[in-house]
Amino acid sequence: MEKILEIITKKMQTAFEEAGYDASFGRVTVSNRPDLCEYQCNGALAAAKQYKCAPIQIANAVVAKLNADDYSMIEAVMPGFINLKLSGRFLQSYLEEMRTCEDFGVEKIGAGKTIVVDYGGANVAKPLHIGHLRPAIIGEALKRLHKFMGYNTIGDVHLGDWGLQMGLIIAELQERQPELPYFDPDFTGNYPETAPFTVDELEDIYPTASSKKTDPEFSHKAHQATFELQQGRRGYRALWQHIMKVSVTDLKKNYDNLDVHFEKWLGESDADPYIPAMVADMKEKGVAVLSNGAWVIPVTEDGDKNEIPPCILIKSDGSAIYATTDLATMVQRMQDWKPDKMLYVTDKRQNLHFEQVFRAARKSGIVNADTELEHVGHGTMNGADGKPFKTRDGGVLRLETLISDMTDFVRTKVVENKIVPEDEVEATTQKIAMGALKYGDLSNQPTKDYNFDMERFAAFEGNTGPYILYTIVRIKSILAKYGAWESLPIQEPANEYAKDLMLAITKFAPALESAVKASAPNLICAYIYELAGAVNKFYHETRILGEENEALKAGYISLIALAKNILETSIDLLGFSAPEKM
Ligand code: ARG
Repeated sequence: MEKILEIITKKMQTAFEEAGYDASFGRVTVSNRPDLCEYQCNGALAAAKQYKCAPIQIANAVVAKLNADDYSMIEAVMPGFINLKLSGRFLQSYLEEMRTCEDFGVEKIGAGKTIVVDYGGANVAKPLHIGHLRPAIIGEALKRLHKFMGYNTIGDVHLGDWGLQMGLIIAELQERQPELPYFDPDFTGNYPETAPFTVDELEDIYPTASSKKTDPEFSHKAHQATFELQQGRRGYRALWQHIMKVSVTDLKKNYDNLDVHFEKWLGESDADPYIPAMVADMKEKGVAVLSNGAWVIPVTEDGDKNEIPPCILIKSDGSAIYATTDLATMVQRMQDWKPDKMLYVTDKRQNLHFEQVFRAARKSGIVNADTELEHVGHGTMNGADGKPFKTRDGGVLRLETLISDMTDFVRTKVVENKIVPEDEVEATTQKIAMGALKYGDLSNQPTKDYNFDMERFAAFEGNTGPYILYTIVRIKSILAKYGAWESLPIQEPANEYAKDLMLAITKFAPALESAVKASAPNLICAYIYELAGAVNKFYHETRILGEENEALKAGYISLIALAKNILETSIDLLGFSAPEKM
């Protein structure tokens, strides 16, 4: 479906033409004076210069050509503005089309295009901590939004499953259980099927090993183990498989709890086979150059304000690094999926890394000239006091703990306020907590830091997830009382609150388009907050179920039902859903 602005701009352009002026002056915008009008066109002011006459004269002539059926108000006002209010009839037919079209008639601007969303950022053998919340939530929302806009979407977790962290774990395990067959170079039998550790043990092994990095002897062992693992030493590969399996099972469980799902569970290790040919090609093309024993790709460009250091490809000791795997991963993605766009969601402290990698990728021709590469660098989530989030003993808070704290907080509210019968407490609590957590995050611009404030996020009033959920639940309960509402057509607005609600509904497609173009789920939040506000205003000012005129009542019902469907679709894009009661 065309957006309202497109429709009325076209009509305005025709009117300019019919009045004898150039069509290009007929651009309409959303009014910046909502007290005066809904839409406006300032084209007569610009046209007046070209046609050397008074702007009001042009505005009057244009207004005379507009179709009065489309507007409840058309005004040419001094010095030459054209102010418009849409007619009830126009809104009725537009919303009826939205109601009956698939996905509310949103134009599928991504149709035929493929996008890879690289998000999550999990590392094998390390539990998810609060730093993993934002890339998971923002990435999932962006992926769902792109999908809704018609893109073929591939979400890839890009696991940190290679490199020194693996060697550290192997070295630590060897100290703890030297008798295991994985460490015996002469062992030729089958390795055990079950892992020699549980996930809890694994999560204890890594930090211990990591703290021993400064011990030269241990560090040497870890580096050696990393090297041998990457060379394919049989016992280490078998051990690595165990680490992967135990860890990925646990990671999946945690992401599932957040309703975050990846299409691909590929990792840095999967990029490894692509490295040799990629590096050879870069050397041959002269894109990679030798600098102090390392192979690097210089990436400075004209106009750089700050110096961008070269992208290091192969260190002087011959090893590949983080940037190397990211480049090789692009090779794999281009080869297997031919994406039109790759979108990365990580902490903004990785801004420079991605700038280097993107430039290196373009310079070496790994991606096509028109392949879009974008990094959404998100800000930090701080504690309610604005200080970095820490546990009482100064450690990093586990994501699981954060989620269960939020859930406990919400559960207490649900129980105290006797919101639902006992057997529904848990399901309702889960939904509200997820809405509070995700909306609390997503309503902020991704790049900004924000403070995690459980009380504020979980409040049922204000710009919060639970407020949106409450609005949906309120409509659902009215609809349930009304009965069959699914096929009721939209009617002309019966009062100004109905009209405001209708206008808010029409802004769905523009809001999604802005959100997808700016990679900004916060724009969806801002939209549904406005929409929920319009719903609640309408609800308070109108007797809906109490209306005696059945035809009028049916119109109210179809309007709030459409609002509910749009709200539900929107929160699904944000990654949460509404309970039945609240
Ligand atoms: N595992 C990385 C980290 O912990 C994040 C990975 C982000 N994605 C990427 N393609 N580099 O920092």
